[in-house]
Amino acid sequence: MRAIIGWGAVLALVGLLSCKKDKPAPTASNCAGVDTLRITYQGYVADVMRQHCTSCHGGSSPSASLALETYAQVRASAESGRWYEAMSRGQMPPSGKLDECTLAKLNRWIDLGYPEQ
Ligand code: HEC
Repeated sequence: MRAIIGWGAVLALVGLLSCKKDKPAPTASNCAGVDTLRITYQGYVADVMRQHCTSCHGGSSPSASLALETYAQVRASAESGRWYEAMSRGQMPPSGKLDECTLAKLNRWIDLGYPEQ
């Protein structure tokens, strides 16, 4: 009898966990706890921009006239909504969508109100 109740609990838990997949939030296991992290521009976001974006969105003639090289530039784009939208849709970077964990951290930065450092 006890075993049956035990398995019931396990199944209920599995059910609960799989429901989370419907949310837009990250599901990759290595992203666990991302919503407790303090993500900052200097500590994280700037690196992602340098690795994936500024080769086009920087320099003397940035793509789409959008430079993403400074805090003010990235924040303005993020506040417009286009920045995260372009990445979460997989439109940017053109070479392929960023992994879920990176996206989750960028989203967390927005939730925190775009802290610089
Ligand atoms: C290989 C060059 C390249 C890279 C790398 C790149 N972009 Fe772009 N991006 C473009 C081009 C070209 C456009 C304009 C045409 C289009 O929308 O596809 C654009 C458009 C955009 C727009 C829309 C601008 C608007 O006016 O609404 C956003 C936002 C954006 N990129 C963000 C990013 C972010 C964030 C990254 C890094 C994760 C990134 N891009 C990486 C070339 C690039």
